[in-house]
Amino acid sequence: MAIEFSPNMKRIEESGTLAVFARVKEMQRTGQEVLSLVVGELDCETPDFIKQAGIRAIREGFTRYTVNSGIPELREAIARKLRDDNDLEYTPDEILVSAGSKQAFYNIMYALCGEGDEVIIFTPNYTSHPDQVRLVGATPVLVPSRVENNYQIEAEALRRAITEHTRMIILNSPNNPSSQLYTKESFEIVAKTAMEHDLWILSDELYEKIVFPPHVHYSIAQLFPEVKERSLVANGLSKTYAMTGWRLGYGAGPREVIKAAALVQSHTTNNASSISQKAALAALTEDDGSFFRDLIPDLEKKRDTAYRIISSIDGLNCPNAQGAFYLFPSIKKYIGRRSGDRVIGGSLDLAMYLLEEKQVAIVPGIAFNTEGAIRISFATDLETVERGCLKIKEGLEQLA
Ligand SMILES: Cc1ncc(COP(=O)(O)O)c(C=O)c1O
Repeated sequence: MAIEFSPNMKRIEESGTLAVFARVKEMQRTGQEVLSLVVGELDCETPDFIKQAGIRAIREGFTRYTVNSGIPELREAIARKLRDDNDLEYTPDEILVSAGSKQAFYNIMYALCGEGDEVIIFTPNYTSHPDQVRLVGATPVLVPSRVENNYQIEAEALRRAITEHTRMIILNSPNNPSSQLYTKESFEIVAKTAMEHDLWILSDELYEKIVFPPHVHYSIAQLFPEVKERSLVANGLSKTYAMTGWRLGYGAGPREVIKAAALVQSHTTNNASSISQKAALAALTEDDGSFFRDLIPDLEKKRDTAYRIISSIDGLNCPNAQGAFYLFPSIKKYIGRRSGDRVIGGSLDLAMYLLEEKQVAIVPGIAFNTEGAIRISFATDLETVERGCLKIKEGLEQLA
């Protein structure tokens, strides 16, 4: 039977990087070693006390539907976390527990934006954000930020993007892929613009705990309380506690919006996994801080190794990572160069070249709507980070 998809499918795109991932798989299948610097999750297991809470939940039969928006004790724990870590006061009915921050983000997007609305996204951006906007029928408006300005928000660029249809601004700090945190000035530009044009702000803060000193994570409404009534936070435990597979995230914001987002969830998936909710409760209430005490210095060592090698490559503009676990150097100087018959026309060509000639996998910047850059993840073992970055250096230096 000929399959004709609904027009809905025309709204979303496959990632342009699938070709790279398909090639990685093929090379691995044929026994070739690939140094993978593409990972988007921590290189360690979920802490044992969290796993034990999940196991206990299963043993005790906590395996049925829960309240759609999440068990009350978990929403209370999230409210405490938002108060203690972010100086943000939310009541449990202003919090929605979802299957990952991605689902919370989507439910909120669905509740607030639709046909005819424009949503501002700063590039480089997390890959799913524009597609989530398109899924609800709205239009993503990409506003570039520049490596020369450490990927901060520029008032003039934002002003030019605002139209009478603008409905929302998306923030992501620490940012995937740039690993930069917004400065107070960047947040102020967004806060002022949102107030002036009556816009919503949806802030993806998934990497908030992965921040390297002396940098500090801020949530926009913490710095500018006047925007709290128009701000929503999407966050979760995936990156914080190495819990990507548990699918546990949450959204927080004005009660009426959270209620509407919960209604969306009630008709799609209903509650997040009951087992994961119990595990998340343990993460938020029993954590003695030891996981981060070890994690951040370990990641810092990997970051410093990657940065030392990558920043020594001629002509690469590479801000060091302030949070998350990526380097996102600009490789503009290498566009147009050659290796034999192979011409490096853009970041995808460079990714393929590094993969096929140097057996190292990275993600091309085009996946994040930023041509002329590459994303290098250092969330893997130190030896792979070092060997992979040396291969990138060798590959770039051999281009003529
Ligand atoms: C910036 C950002 N937001 C959201 C997500 C999705 O995370 P979750 O596992 O909480 O759905 C990711 C995952 O890589 C991410 O990098």
